[in-house]
Amino acid sequence: MILTEEKAKGRFYTPPSIVKMILDLAGYTGERILGRHAIDNSCGDGAFLVEIVDRYCRAAQSAGYTKERLSAELSAFVHGIEIDAGQREKALRRAAGAARAYGAEPAAWDIRRGDTLAEKRYDGRMDFVLGNPPYVRVHNLSDSYDAVRRFRFARSGMTDLFLVFYEIGLKMLAPGGTLGYIAPSSLFNSRAAAALRRHLIERNLIRKVVDLKHFRPFGASAYTAVMILRSGAAEPPEAEYYEYDPAGEEARRVSGLAPNEFCIDGNFYFGPKSALSRLAKIARADMKNAPLDVKNGLATLCDAFFIGGLPFESRVIPVVKASTGQHARCLFPYDENARPLPYADLARDEALDAYYKAWEPRLRKRALTGASRWYEFGRTQGIADVYKKKYSVCSIIREPNDLKLTFCDRGTGVYGGLYILTDLDEAILKDLLYTDDFMEYVALLGKYKSGGYYTFSSKDLKRYLACRLAEREG
Ligand SMILES: C[S@@+](CC[C@H](N)C(=O)[O-])C[C@H]1O[C@@H](n2cnc3c(N)ncnc32)[C@H](O)[C@@H]1O
Repeated sequence: MILTEEKAKGRFYTPPSIVKMILDLAGYTGERILGRHAIDNSCGDGAFLVEIVDRYCRAAQSAGYTKERLSAELSAFVHGIEIDAGQREKALRRAAGAARAYGAEPAAWDIRRGDTLAEKRYDGRMDFVLGNPPYVRVHNLSDSYDAVRRFRFARSGMTDLFLVFYEIGLKMLAPGGTLGYIAPSSLFNSRAAAALRRHLIERNLIRKVVDLKHFRPFGASAYTAVMILRSGAAEPPEAEYYEYDPAGEEARRVSGLAPNEFCIDGNFYFGPKSALSRLAKIARADMKNAPLDVKNGLATLCDAFFIGGLPFESRVIPVVKASTGQHARCLFPYDENARPLPYADLARDEALDAYYKAWEPRLRKRALTGASRWYEFGRTQGIADVYKKKYSVCSIIREPNDLKLTFCDRGTGVYGGLYILTDLDEAILKDLLYTDDFMEYVALLGKYKSGGYYTFSSKDLKRYLACRLAEREG
């Protein structure tokens, strides 16, 4: 895949209003910043450095510094690292411009071109680490893949460069220092960020969180959140939780949360206290004895072949597309016990055989799992439940009425979403799912989709239903 420069280097630049918000929340304000080291260790063209320099100059002016002293301190206390020479030049020019506005002319700036992953000189020395680290998924990291995997926070799963920058940033902090980053909010719940989350909780680091939710300051890229971390707390501190108001360009405080309120099952969830306690209850639901299961629907890995206007009748079953509730016809090369039929059986129908032959090259190109053969579905999920009673359900909603629950009788398959396997009545499920309560739960899970939508997994849905059904039973 050809990557854009933006994607390959994680180059999304931060708007000034967000920079100001992060610096305010981090306490990089007033005269207390004088004589304190601040670094942006992925400074790009200097969005953070310009504001850092401006604040330093203003503070120095109000403290009555001479121009010479201010110039010397800007050289000593403002730091930047950027891997790209052109961006680093721009950052340097912009920082110098910001200083000049106050009559300061530092002889040298510590805004260096370098690879932050190999940088050690700032470790344990920075009072403030501020910035917007690069977001680059591990599969897009060609040159630095091995270097990235050596970091503790980047060992598992679909890791991302921003997790490494969290590790490096925390290492750079002096005792009692503050880190303020804007980075993907996937760190709240992704498996790859589990080590980082554990570290943040064990070291009592989280002070403030701003979830930007559906608002994406960098266009159609990641969903992000601001985290303010401070080292040195002996006891678990309360985290101030804010939501971002894009119209007013400000963070609005929602609640103060203890770690055991927002850290549930190792993931982070943020919201009002009462909503989080409802969420914690759902997380504790007894899944084993629930009168239902929730699973992922059929995955053919080539719907264009298996589903639609098929030119034959044999081996065809009705299917429902869970995301829309629409009915269609599907070629189902399995028996009622989910065993794949021998190809020779299928080929007895000449039209079916001809249809398969015409598509064979394309079917063979699918990334098949396990023992699946070329004429079967790409994945085995959902196959065993075709001949059971179930309800298909879409997994992306924005409001309660977006939910689509469709009854699927025995013999009807489900694809393109989830299904609930249960003997319960449709009315009971509808009663529970077409509700503001379910919507609030899904929103709290924080799995954002474009257009203001939220998604949820089969496990999320099962938990919710298990909990609410148990409550109904008293
Ligand atoms: C998301 S941008 C943020 C830039 C700036 N902090 C801002 O908020 O506008 C990330 C920057 O990190 C730089 N970068 C990527 N990998 C780096 C590395 N290993 N060392 C230093 N900088 C790196 C990219 O070139 C890019 O300019």
